[in-house]
Amino acid sequence: MTVPKEYIYLDNAATSLPKPRGVAEAVAGAIGRAGNPGRSGHALSIGSARDLFAARERLAELFGFRDSARFVFTENATGALNRAIKGLLRPGDHVVTTSVEHNSVMRPLRRLEGAGVSVTVVPADPTGTVAAAEVVAAIRKETRLVAVTHASNVSGAIQPVEAIVRAAKARGVFTLIDAAQTAGAVPIDLSALPVDMLAASGHKGLLGPQGTGFLFVREGVPLVPLVEGGTGSRSEDDHQPDFYPDCLESGTPNSVGIAGLSVALAWLLKKGVASVRSKEVALISELLEGMRQIRGVIVYGPEDPAKRGCALSFNVGGADPGEVGRRLEREAGILSRAGLHCSPNAHRTLGTFPQGTVRVSPGPFTTRKEIRACLSALRGIAPG
Ligand code: ALA
Repeated sequence: MTVPKEYIYLDNAATSLPKPRGVAEAVAGAIGRAGNPGRSGHALSIGSARDLFAARERLAELFGFRDSARFVFTENATGALNRAIKGLLRPGDHVVTTSVEHNSVMRPLRRLEGAGVSVTVVPADPTGTVAAAEVVAAIRKETRLVAVTHASNVSGAIQPVEAIVRAAKARGVFTLIDAAQTAGAVPIDLSALPVDMLAASGHKGLLGPQGTGFLFVREGVPLVPLVEGGTGSRSEDDHQPDFYPDCLESGTPNSVGIAGLSVALAWLLKKGVASVRSKEVALISELLEGMRQIRGVIVYGPEDPAKRGCALSFNVGGADPGEVGRRLEREAGILSRAGLHCSPNAHRTLGTFPQGTVRVSPGPFTTRKEIRACLSALRGIAPG
């Protein structure tokens, strides 16, 4: 599958396109074949349960963790983050987060604030990067959770998650990483990084279909399920099972989408996330370098491409970002995302609220030719 040829797709931070070969075919195959996994004793239900298990095993292998049962399938990263945040925090708890979080973290936290949870938002610097020491300094005795994005979906800034996680752990505080922008694009090794929970979507860097995501939960995190119901296990008991992944996976899963995700994970395992990362850093370097040379273009986020994920936000003079995005599409077929990117606080941090920015985000199938076409289109739009 390829993107329609009239377009240059630079919106991988919203969802990746194209998907690796075989993903669409796996989805089409599963729609005709996937019984309800783990529910019935017949061949198509058992086959579907095996496929789900294989996908979970691939996820565990990709993230370097031996026990695949700790990877809970969800509908997207938002579903995973809500399960983590609302499943852990109770009235009286305190949570530390940052000023560059997506609304999928901030909105659940703001709701809980109304129910007696207190929230400290640690400001990031003007590049959108938070200092680990400031996050750690905000921890107090009632702090139950530190929730931080791995990389901003606006500035692309990669956060010092390793230092934050280790310091929080030393203080007995649980940690949650929002890896929506990095899973599959930046190497993450859960055998080395002692984070308690990690949430991601399946359709961005993991290259699977929309409607897929996961939450990793390390042993010892007392999460209360957000959704209870049938799991296909312990059906004699009308209480929710307490074992993983069943305790957090009620109702029929998206077996069809996960069949596609499984093929995408196999592709990533073969390719290697490190190799995807080095290709994407090269593309971002070229974009950064090229944009710096176009008068009137203001680029946000860290200067060093090694300190960024794939989201690259910019503005062209005082032009309306929505209009620049529309011109990129109309004049050069370039597909970007303009506006606030569901992350108003990240824009406040960068000084781009309320107008927002134009965001381009290459992916593993983006070519240098496409990057050059983007730069050339921008040269045509910039006032000069
Ligand atoms: N959160 C996604 C984005 O940043 C949809 O575009």
